[in-house]
Amino acid sequence: MSLEDEIRQLKEERRAVLLAHNYQRPEVQDLADFVGDSLYLSRKAVEDDRPVIVFAGVRFMAETAKILNPNKTVLLPDLRAGCGLADSITAEQLRTWKEAHPGAVVVAYINTSAEVKAESDYCCTSSNAVKIVSQIPADREILFLPDMFLGDYVRRRTGRAMHLWVGDCPVHTKMRPEQVDHARIEHPGAPIVAHPECGCTSRVLESVDRILSTDGMLRFAEETRAPEVLVATEVGILHRMRRLNPTTRFLPLEPGAICPYMKETDLADIRDSLRLGRWVIDVPPATADRARRSLERMIAA
Ligand code: 13P
Ligand code: SF4
Repeated sequence: MSLEDEIRQLKEERRAVLLAHNYQRPEVQDLADFVGDSLYLSRKAVEDDRPVIVFAGVRFMAETAKILNPNKTVLLPDLRAGCGLADSITAEQLRTWKEAHPGAVVVAYINTSAEVKAESDYCCTSSNAVKIVSQIPADREILFLPDMFLGDYVRRRTGRAMHLWVGDCPVHTKMRPEQVDHARIEHPGAPIVAHPECGCTSRVLESVDRILSTDGMLRFAEETRAPEVLVATEVGILHRMRRLNPTTRFLPLEPGAICPYMKETDLADIRDSLRLGRWVIDVPPATADRARRSLERMIAA
């Protein structure tokens, strides 16, 4: 039996749903029940009624699924699948920051640990950060964490004077303004779409055509009639973009933008995860209860 068939069979036997992020390996995306961005997968984790969730993504995503579904079993197939951005702030650091700004509203990007979410008022993803910040009363001070590029983008879109945590994603930081300039010369007329985590200065974001979450990029891919599109995010997204629209050439702005954490999970890990029931992601109930408030506010927004 092929590895793919083994996984399909085990999924049935265990009554498991396989969720995969847009940056996962192509063969993992192809087997998943649902593929999408962080917000979409959080919603699917709640809507699907199977008792086991296998999360082909990174740890904070599996933790989020567990917080939202305390009675389900959540499995992360490879424990090395962390996130450099989520590691840039600890709950202790956030508590110290909050003490310096009493009464401030804390908005945490979903790329954070469960402990950090428990210290936050709102969660957001790249697809709803602007909406969530816009809904906060204008007289409230805001602490936004941990991605300074996403924070700066939201600050400019909403006009809100937020305090930003100085964190970034090691993959998106690689995207430099000079690469955008170069791409404009090499591919004249080709639209450039970018994820709001892109660095290295916000000039990258100023000079691209569209700033979109990974699902936003997929919608753009379906609709565009441009012969070529340059894509400034992790290269895993190109798989679905090319499937959705085979007539447009989707090219990476930075071919080296490969998230090592997202690529940890392969089909053998997923098969073993289903077969052996590993690795179970648990969040202490007291932390989960506090973190759930900020996530539920995000999902309801
Ligand atoms: P999305 O929410 O756009 O899927 O992004 C998640 C992520 O980790 C980006 O690096
Ligand atoms: Fe984290 Fe960056 Fe990888 Fe996204 S691309 S999971 S933010 S390290």
